[in-house]
Amino acid sequence: MAKSIPLKLESLPLRDRRRRVLSDLRISVIDRCNFRCPYCMPEGSYPLDHAFLEKSQRMRFEEIERLARVFVNLGVRKIRLTGGEPLLRRELPKLVAGLAGIESLEDLALTSNGSLLPRMAKELREAGLKRITLSMDSLDAQTYREMSGGRGEVANLDAAIAAAVDAGFTSLKLNVVVMRGVNDHQVADMIAYFRGSGHVLRFIEYMDVGTCNAWKPELVVPSAELRDRIGQRWPLRALPATHAGEVAERWQLVDGSAEIGFISSVSEPFCGDCTRARLSADGRLYTCLFANSGHDLLGPLRAGATDAELGKLIAAVWSSRDDRYSEIRNAASSLARQRVEMYEIGG
Ligand code: GTP
Ligand code: 5AD
Ligand code: SF4
Ligand code: SF4
Repeated sequence: MAKSIPLKLESLPLRDRRRRVLSDLRISVIDRCNFRCPYCMPEGSYPLDHAFLEKSQRMRFEEIERLARVFVNLGVRKIRLTGGEPLLRRELPKLVAGLAGIESLEDLALTSNGSLLPRMAKELREAGLKRITLSMDSLDAQTYREMSGGRGEVANLDAAIAAAVDAGFTSLKLNVVVMRGVNDHQVADMIAYFRGSGHVLRFIEYMDVGTCNAWKPELVVPSAELRDRIGQRWPLRALPATHAGEVAERWQLVDGSAEIGFISSVSEPFCGDCTRARLSADGRLYTCLFANSGHDLLGPLRAGATDAELGKLIAAVWSSRDDRYSEIRNAASSLARQRVEMYEIGG
């Protein structure tokens, strides 16, 4: 494997055209998923001609690790592994171990639907994974089934949470995509269930990502409305952000029994602080969740580019970045037919 050498770039930290620094990298390790969540990959309407990546098209672990090192040299401090469903990628703990060994990387996290976690939680922890975020759209068996496209069972999620805690992931983040008329009436009960557990429920506004969900503005419950509703049962107080550019607004039940978060990319966009780059499983760099296309890094890497050349390529892409989709979203942009799918870059 080529040796990682420090990049001689004149201007670190790297800033885009809106002066946003590159500090987070989200790496999709596979574009397949065993769920069919209606907001991401709805059964029957995700593009049926979609060709999932062949193994040879996917980045190998050593390729991912090499790119990750280049990104860290450019200022990335936080890496999150995503999918599709990342636990479908065989031997994932080996990748985690490689990434965990990167000097200067401060945070290594994973987003998963949890279905395969019980058998892997310990190994992931031992490999050096620091944090896990699980999708947890409902506690009601029927709604959970519906929101996983008929593929998930809420009892399995209980097992996933227990396994994660047992392995040492004591405070999980639990992502709830809130859809009006589907699960929005259940959020207060979810808070009741998780109070005192140390886990953080985060309520996410349903977004118009990808091209195949049937997103409509009416299905979005603005966080302000949800917060008011929750506040009637559980009085809340705001908490300060833990770091600049934090995606979730943090709140706490006034009795101190739980922290909850709101991710309001539709009603209160946070593009101004967006420090996130995304890498698809075939090694394309996306500078926004709503991008039409990505910049190929795997091609140049396989063609023999050095770390310094890859670094320059990434720096050039980031320097010309001007994305702020959520701030300028409109009815026409929501219907765009050419856009990366959420299961290709993992949220
Ligand atoms: P931490 O590392 O714990 O801070 O996680 P995070 O806040 O980055 O959250 P996570 O990766 O779990 O993101 C939660 C959800 O927020 C994602 O699944 C997306 O739905 C949404 N989200 C995250 N980043 C972005 C972003 O850059 N733009 C938009 N529009 N939504 C985002
Ligand atoms: N809107 C909001 N969040 C979404 N996710 C996927 N699709 C959407 C969407 N349309 C997020 C969920 C899931 C993560 C992988 O991506 O939080 O947990
Ligand atoms: Fe659901 Fe995540 Fe799979 Fe998308 S990638 S269908 S959000 S579990
Ligand atoms: Fe970042 Fe794009 Fe999300 Fe805005 S819409 S916060 S630019 S990923």
